[in-house]
Amino acid sequence: MKPLFLATSNPHKLREIQEILELLGLAHAFRLQARAPEVEETGVTFLENAWIKARQVYQATGRPVIAEDTGLVVESLDGAPGLFSARFAGSPTDHRQNLNKLLALLQGRGEEARRARFVCYAVYLDDERRVWARGEVQGLIAQEARGNRGFGYDPIFLYPPLGRTFGELAPVLKNRRSHRYHAFRRLFQKLGMLP
Ligand code: IMP
Repeated sequence: MKPLFLATSNPHKLREIQEILELLGLAHAFRLQARAPEVEETGVTFLENAWIKARQVYQATGRPVIAEDTGLVVESLDGAPGLFSARFAGSPTDHRQNLNKLLALLQGRGEEARRARFVCYAVYLDDERRVWARGEVQGLIAQEARGNRGFGYDPIFLYPPLGRTFGELAPVLKNRRSHRYHAFRRLFQKLGMLP
């Protein structure tokens, strides 16, 4: 199995991407290994941030690398939290504060204002190739947090086709529909590993 580095320090992302590889029938092709990128995410787009992480780990390992950058986008809030999803309420590690801030901003607002999407940019880098892909999933910001599965904003991201938040879904249900699933499926299609 070929080693494939995943440039992340987030164990949730490692677990999800490993499961996504399994769902795509690619788990046997790679030995996925997380490696924390030692860089600030200073890009002004999700894609740029994904490349920053991938490049650093590629330079450190000389091995094929995948990376991704994700954000939650609410149009009625001019795209916020967007690029600032991780530190929306100040601290990049306090997810509860981030989602409480979002709930407070949308308090009393109707469904139209609650429309939201997760956007994910996935990238692949090796000696010869530099490939990227985008995935997204549409939903609504819930009235209150529900469920303790997933991570980050999952408890307030209501996925209308299943009537539940991502925080309430079994991992495989999220991982088959998520922004991350779509981004990585397209990435591996572009790499010629999937039809
Ligand atoms: P980043 O891609 O690690 O920069 O993530 C930005 C922010 O979005 C962080 O607060 C993450 O916790 C959150 N986030 C990223 N992916 C997901 C997801 O799949 N579900 C919920 N929150 C996420």
